[in-house]
Amino acid sequence: MQTTARIAVLVSGGGTNLQALINAEKNGKIPNGKIELVISNNENAFAIERAKNAGIKTQTILKSIEGSQQAFEDKLKKILTENQIDLIVLAGFMSILSESFTKDYPERIINVHPSLIPSFCGKGFYGLKVHERALEKGVKVTGATVHFVNEIPDGGKIILQKAVSVREKDTPETLQKRVMEQAEWKILPLAVQKISKQITEKGK
Ligand code: GAR
Repeated sequence: MQTTARIAVLVSGGGTNLQALINAEKNGKIPNGKIELVISNNENAFAIERAKNAGIKTQTILKSIEGSQQAFEDKLKKILTENQIDLIVLAGFMSILSESFTKDYPERIINVHPSLIPSFCGKGFYGLKVHERALEKGVKVTGATVHFVNEIPDGGKIILQKAVSVREKDTPETLQKRVMEQAEWKILPLAVQKISKQITEKGK
């Protein structure tokens, strides 16, 4: 019986969540999963360097080169199939996947989002913008959520959440940093292990 789920991590930027996963795997915190591949939709993403430094295979797919979202997703599917990927992790992946893609991977795609869903989520809420909106609203508590990805942006079943306090003097940048450190980098590896374990127990 195979005891590890084969994981692909999809990235677009700095890749600190990818780094948290790499570190967790290295420290034995993801015994039922292995990051096999990192896929970026941005050729300048620093996340690619992080993957290379960890000896993980990388692939870049650009929508501008593929020509359309459909062609981008077709190529993505081909690569995922070729690499026998069991679990897809969106870690700072800044593109919305279509329903025709997500329906092929029910409860096999997870995403980390920098707020307590259902607050500050959905189309247009990504990266720093999420924290800007949280501060505008004046919330006193925010956090992060890891959830399954379905056809509704940030609408899939919630796997884990963690709350983080907002401070009086927070800027979007300071709040983003605290949410990452206190919530995202902790719950993403936990969720990846949890789902990897479920996948291996089900026998894939
Ligand atoms: C993270 O805060 C992640 O939660 C967020 O972008 C940042 C990426 O940072 N993702 C979204 O907003 C997706 N809707 P990273 O590249 O350093 O992991």
